[in-house]
Amino acid sequence: MSEYNSVKFRCPSNIALVKYWGKKTGGVQLPANPSISWTLSDLHATTTVTRSKMTGLSSSAISLEFFLAGESKPSFEPKIRQFLERIAPFMPQIKEFHWKIESENNFPHGTGIASSAAGFGALALCFADFQRADLAAEQSWSEEEFLQIASKYARLGSGSACRSVYGQPGIWGETNAWAEATDEFAVPFTAHVHESLKYWADAVLIVDDGEKSVSSTQGHDLLKDHPYAASRYQQAQVNLERLLEMMKVGDLNGFISLVESEALQLHAMMMSSEPYYLLIRPNTIAIIERIWNKRKETQWPMAFTLDAGANVHLLYDKSYSEPVMNFIETELLPYCKNSLYLCSDIGGSPQKI
Ligand code: DP6
Repeated sequence: MSEYNSVKFRCPSNIALVKYWGKKTGGVQLPANPSISWTLSDLHATTTVTRSKMTGLSSSAISLEFFLAGESKPSFEPKIRQFLERIAPFMPQIKEFHWKIESENNFPHGTGIASSAAGFGALALCFADFQRADLAAEQSWSEEEFLQIASKYARLGSGSACRSVYGQPGIWGETNAWAEATDEFAVPFTAHVHESLKYWADAVLIVDDGEKSVSSTQGHDLLKDHPYAASRYQQAQVNLERLLEMMKVGDLNGFISLVESEALQLHAMMMSSEPYYLLIRPNTIAIIERIWNKRKETQWPMAFTLDAGANVHLLYDKSYSEPVMNFIETELLPYCKNSLYLCSDIGGSPQKI
């Protein structure tokens, strides 16, 4: 065992273009359909994990404490404990140590922004790094292997987190459209992306900063008996295949309408679950309509997307930053809670600090 006792990683959040919604039955955290996302380099979590060897009788329980932005948060511990229980079969040393986990996000807490992708991404990278150090005398992992292991661990914490470990778009889930893709971990989309889709940014318009009425994990669960699940999974397969092609050739109109359609399909699945529910709010729709009107009037390359919440992600070509920012400030801000929106470039890899 190495004397390596503390590690720190920063990991970006991500936004899906084709959505992961539904899990396979059997296996742990395996997606029912493939998805792809862009990382958000300026919205990230930074996590330090410090371990100390347990003395006395070894216990089967996992020992941990969790701090968010310097404050002890026992309410987060069950989800992190579940993550550690899931990775323990691959990393037996989990049970030999006490784990102190200190995390912080660079975006305000309670903005309704999914921080689990960045958080579990950073956490998984820390644990994979401990394992790499402990095994260093016997085996060496290539960077690719390290990222695959980190991505697999991140998946076991929160499915969408597994796509956060790559600067290139992350593809997760089996698909004929990308030979390397697997359900076990995400892989990078290494094909040449057309210039017109390389330099984009995301403005996250905060519509609702409250707790969601139905969590993502509960939402995935409702797909089990969903009357449209099978056709949604099929549609996601087709959409992923089409999207990869559009990204290669730079079919902007196709890209925009597919990304928007994916967002609406995600929420349509929520609205048609049993029990049905609604996460979008009136201001979500008001923003979407203004984006549509503005695009019709100007032809700016921009698209909205949604995650499992009311906030709107406005994706746009960075060379249009000035007019898009002006549009947000003058026309969209009235629909944002406390006039809040967060900006990020697309892309960006995790960093060891
Ligand atoms: C709507 O990854 O949060 O953001 O695996 O249960 O932790 P768990 O769910 P989570 O689901 C998020 C789904 C989504 C779409 C996506 O990111 O692909």
